[in-house]
Amino acid sequence: MAFSGFHRHPLGYLLVIGLFALSVNAIDIFLEWNVTLDSTIQPASQQQPVIAINGLFPGPLINTTTNDFVHVNVFNNLDEPLLFTWNGIQQRLNSWQDGVSGTNCPILPGTNWTFAFQTKDQIGSFFYFPSINFQKAAGGFGPIRINNRNVIAVPFPKPEDEFDLLIGDWSFDNYKVTRSLMTNPTIAFDSIPNIMLMNGKPPFGNPEGKAFESFAVTQGKVYRFRISNVGTSLSFNFRIQNHNMLLVETEGSYTNQTILDSLDVHVGQSYSVLVTANQVDADYFIVASPKLLNATEFSSLVGVGVLHYSNSAAQPVGPLPTGPDPFDLDFSVNQAKSIRWNMTTGAARPNPQGTFNVTNVTISQTFVLENSVTMINGLPQAVVNNVSYLTIDTPLKLADFLVNGSGVYQLDEFPVQSVNLNASFGVSVATGNHKGWIEIVLKNNWEFIDSWHLDGFGFYTVGFGNGDWTPELRNTYNLFDPVVRSTVQVYPGGWTAVYAFLDNPGMWNLRSQLLKNWFLGQELYLRVHDSDPNPAKERPPPENLLLCGVFNQSSVPASVHLRP
Ligand SMILES: *[C@@H]1O[C@H](CO)[C@@H](O)[C@H](O)[C@H]1NC(C)=O
Ligand SMILES: *[C@@H]1O[C@H](CO)[C@@H](O)[C@H](O)[C@H]1NC(C)=O
Ligand SMILES: *[C@@H]1O[C@H](CO)[C@@H](O)[C@H](O)[C@H]1NC(C)=O
Ligand SMILES: *[C@@H]1O[C@H](CO)[C@@H](O)[C@H](O)[C@H]1NC(C)=O
Ligand SMILES: *[C@@H]1O[C@H](CO)[C@@H](O)[C@H](O)[C@H]1NC(C)=O
Ligand SMILES: *[C@@H]1O[C@H](CO)[C@@H](O)[C@H](O)[C@H]1NC(C)=O
Ligand SMILES: *[C@@H]1O[C@H](CO)[C@@H](O)[C@H](O)[C@H]1NC(C)=O
Ligand SMILES: *[C@@H]1O[C@H](CO)[C@@H](O)[C@H](O)[C@H]1NC(C)=O
Ligand SMILES: *[C@@H]1O[C@H](CO)[C@@H](O)[C@H](O)[C@H]1NC(C)=O
Ligand SMILES: *[C@@H]1O[C@H](CO)[C@@H](O)[C@H](O)[C@H]1NC(C)=O
Ligand SMILES: *[C@@H]1O[C@H](CO)[C@@H](O)[C@H](O)[C@H]1NC(C)=O
Ligand SMILES: *[C@@H]1O[C@H](CO)[C@@H](O)[C@H](O)[C@H]1NC(C)=O
Repeated sequence: MAFSGFHRHPLGYLLVIGLFALSVNAIDIFLEWNVTLDSTIQPASQQQPVIAINGLFPGPLINTTTNDFVHVNVFNNLDEPLLFTWNGIQQRLNSWQDGVSGTNCPILPGTNWTFAFQTKDQIGSFFYFPSINFQKAAGGFGPIRINNRNVIAVPFPKPEDEFDLLIGDWSFDNYKVTRSLMTNPTIAFDSIPNIMLMNGKPPFGNPEGKAFESFAVTQGKVYRFRISNVGTSLSFNFRIQNHNMLLVETEGSYTNQTILDSLDVHVGQSYSVLVTANQVDADYFIVASPKLLNATEFSSLVGVGVLHYSNSAAQPVGPLPTGPDPFDLDFSVNQAKSIRWNMTTGAARPNPQGTFNVTNVTISQTFVLENSVTMINGLPQAVVNNVSYLTIDTPLKLADFLVNGSGVYQLDEFPVQSVNLNASFGVSVATGNHKGWIEIVLKNNWEFIDSWHLDGFGFYTVGFGNGDWTPELRNTYNLFDPVVRSTVQVYPGGWTAVYAFLDNPGMWNLRSQLLKNWFLGQELYLRVHDSDPNPAKERPPPENLLLCGVFNQSSVPASVHLRP
């Protein structure tokens, strides 16, 4: 069978015109992915398998326009179950396609399954990654772009070219070995990755002489870099020697454009910056250095690529450009606070982003979620309000649909504000009030920078602070032009406050993007229920719905008719 990247299907136009008068340009994009464990790529010169898609690491770009329909037929040629999740794609009314353990049965080895979703009402830079079994540590990630529809102006001139740049920390060990060592508290809590990869490539000047990442530019032209942190645990500072950057977009929000020397990117986040090739013809270093680690002592964890001017014959020279002190968190907090929504520009829709502004919203729920790491029954776990999420074989979404959750999870047992409770396991599912505004305060009790993500919605990032959060600190929130994004960092010993508008019914994962924390239980689900069964609301399950857990083929209740 041939795996040909993608082709755009002309019938898509007909289908779409019939269904959505407003999205006449939306098309269907068909992708076929052969997912394999590849031992030949060896990004870091170890005998280490990586998860490749059609032989590529990172995986192929998914290039879409707002409202396109994406069909990804995933052939699982790994030796264990697999799921992909689409980081930041909101899956409107369709959590069936979210690709996490609480929404989907895994794709078993030797089988294929097709995700089908729409990039509804979104624009911007995102990425995908494998969501279960610790597989993200082995790769399987790749970029997603959602381009503006032609009728909606982009708030900056069209760049000469666009580059996807996936950067992330990487460990030399086989992911299955690391996964099995998660029972060891030292490995689980204290181990540090080995290297920083840029688009799967080791740094310029690596001792094995392997290829490094390089971007060719022409003097005088402007380029858009779509940068994502696809790593497992480290935030990094990104910068380019002798060049500044114009920040323009983050995870689907056009930002107030600001000029930066360097940019902090936390695990799971994406940004677009414009870089003007306005220096003399030469080669320049592109650097991503870890936060909260000394770059001298951990020099292998500094990612280094090259910005190559087309008329340059020389290699980059000089010391790497220095960034802010990696331990100076005030720099990072102040930069985070300065990233604002451009209220007047259009995005997915022609009306300004600021139409939906939060200066005056009524909050219907507040969650205060505190992370920490602890031992339960002698094993290391990560907890939220002292509950470690217990991953079960039955997707919560399936249980919701078939038996209203009964026997699979108990709604609202999870304490949404911390209480004095001994650490324990739970299948944490909390009610989110449909069409209500939720305030979520995230507190970080450990010494690393944490990073939280909510599927299905955008976070309006209204506040960052040090120390304890108290209700009076709401006075410090920026309700005027908070940026809206899917993933937000929480500084050590500090808090971050976000709002979200729960207009998207479904079962939605709220998680740490830090792989070990997520794997060890730092997650929960938000169940947003719309009692209106009108199919124009939440979608029915897809025709290729998989059954698993307590609902294998023989055990679907007779009263349930999967397809009408
Ligand atoms: C997927 O790739 C593997 C490794 O290249 C190959 O052996 C296998 O035949 C491919 N599967 C399909 C369905 O093409
Ligand atoms: C992505 O899609 C847009 C719109 O169809 C097209 O203009 C652009 O060339 C594509 N980019 C890539 C890298 O395929
Ligand atoms: C598996 O792939 C085949 C061949 O492309 C396709 O017809 C079928 O729909 C796929 N199965 C699922 C469950 O998506
Ligand atoms: C905001 O967007 C508008 C409309 O596209 C644009 O003219 C303006 O320059 C942008 N402002 C900033 C500060 O980015
Ligand atoms: C955003 O940009 C607008 C237009 O340039 C400006 O008036 C406003 O002060 C900016 N806001 C912030 C927070 O920088
Ligand atoms: C990093 O380590 C080096 C060597 O140990 C030391 O000289 C330097 O001061 C350290 N830098 C920071 C920012 O701590
Ligand atoms: C803002 O809130 C006040 C008080 O709740 C309310 O009276 C007013 O109508 C609101 N304004 C808008 C534009 O929603
Ligand atoms: C936000 O909405 C309030 C009313 O709710 C209005 O007074 C304010 O001007 C709006 N802000 C912007 C930037 O549109
Ligand atoms: C489904 O479960 C929810 C939460 O436990 C409950 O409020 C609701 O009444 C149940 N609905 C039905 C039809 O049993
Ligand atoms: C969490 O559990 C630990 C040990 O079981 C306990 O010491 C701590 O007080 C608990 N924290 C909260 C917020 O209940
Ligand atoms: C927590 O566990 C300790 C030791 O097992 C016990 O003494 C205490 O009562 C428990 N606290 C709560 C709130 O359950
Ligand atoms: C299917 O589920 C039923 C009921 O839980 C169980 O008895 C049976 O063993 C399961 N079959 C498979 C193949 O897992």
